[in-house]
Amino acid sequence: MQVETHELKQDLLPLRAVSHVEIYCGNAKQSAYYYRQAFGFSLVGYLGPETGVRDRVSYALQQGKVRFILTTPLLEDGIIPFLSKHGDSVRDIAIETTDAEYCFRTTVERGAQPVREPQIVEDTFGKVKIATIATYGDTVHTFVERIDYDGPCMPGFQPMPEDPLARPVGLKHIDHIVGNVDWNQMEEWVQFYIDVFGFSRFVTFDDNDISTEYSALHSTVVSNSSKWIKFPINEPAKGLKKSQIEEYISFHNGPGVQHVAIETDDIISTISKMREQGVEFLDIPDSYYTDLLDRVGPIDEDLEPLRKLNILIDRDDKGYMLQIFTKPVEDRPTLFIEIIQRKGAESFGKGNFKALFISIEREQERRGNL
Ligand code: FE2
Repeated sequence: MQVETHELKQDLLPLRAVSHVEIYCGNAKQSAYYYRQAFGFSLVGYLGPETGVRDRVSYALQQGKVRFILTTPLLEDGIIPFLSKHGDSVRDIAIETTDAEYCFRTTVERGAQPVREPQIVEDTFGKVKIATIATYGDTVHTFVERIDYDGPCMPGFQPMPEDPLARPVGLKHIDHIVGNVDWNQMEEWVQFYIDVFGFSRFVTFDDNDISTEYSALHSTVVSNSSKWIKFPINEPAKGLKKSQIEEYISFHNGPGVQHVAIETDDIISTISKMREQGVEFLDIPDSYYTDLLDRVGPIDEDLEPLRKLNILIDRDDKGYMLQIFTKPVEDRPTLFIEIIQRKGAESFGKGNFKALFISIEREQERRGNL
């Protein structure tokens, strides 16, 4: 079997980590400015008419190992229906692999819908083999095999000089990417990642708590064995109020990526900078912090800056973690960004659901969607 030559022998597919996230947006030029100035990304590459691409423009942004590609169509083509249906939204969760061809053939054999056959893309910086399959909604996964490529992000991008507009905040890498699917579809998509990708259910300490009545969602996490790729899948559930997942599905017109969680080593410094630079975060009721240390036990950080910045803390059997959620990063209440710092904990912060959902419900109510 070919798979035995791969370095990640325990996995069905030789996947390393998320390569990049491509977001289709209405005005990539302006979105790029927002992600550079507010989130601290550097513009590393550009493609568009000036580089010989006629039908779209893309801006490649990078901070640490996090890569976002922002793409806007210029001509009537396949991207425009996506944009009018979903608004600005994640199109592609691209995954780095050592064998794109094998990933494509194996996943398609196991039932994935093919989108783009394996092909080599190249420029003066080298070659990359790519192949694409569909996942939930109109989201796709591109398998990215960087054969000998050392340019900015992907072949075709013209490298940019050091970015004078970037204001880095210490973002390191993608921790997890969450998909929202429709009522009673979670299990089907969890099974998709198990059967087609060979992922496992990522069992965490907080799986069976009582947060559903507050959260109005069901969530199951799938991951590869290295845990570098973690995809929680959410579906709406009946709760005390209208599910936030239901709100997402109706404004997004179907399933899609709900949030991208990015890890930092120093969340207090990261969030202080992001707030200064204009990123809006969910407000957390002050009462959350009153008995916090009784709930989560001792932590290394001073409580005061965490309270001031509205950073949440949760603990599992392996340690604790600090996290915070932005408000939606576009006008529709759809995609948002999570910033997370892990101090041993491997879970996703279910202990924070109650506080979080009081805050989310307040926002839903302001939008008239509760
Ligand atoms: Fe998350």
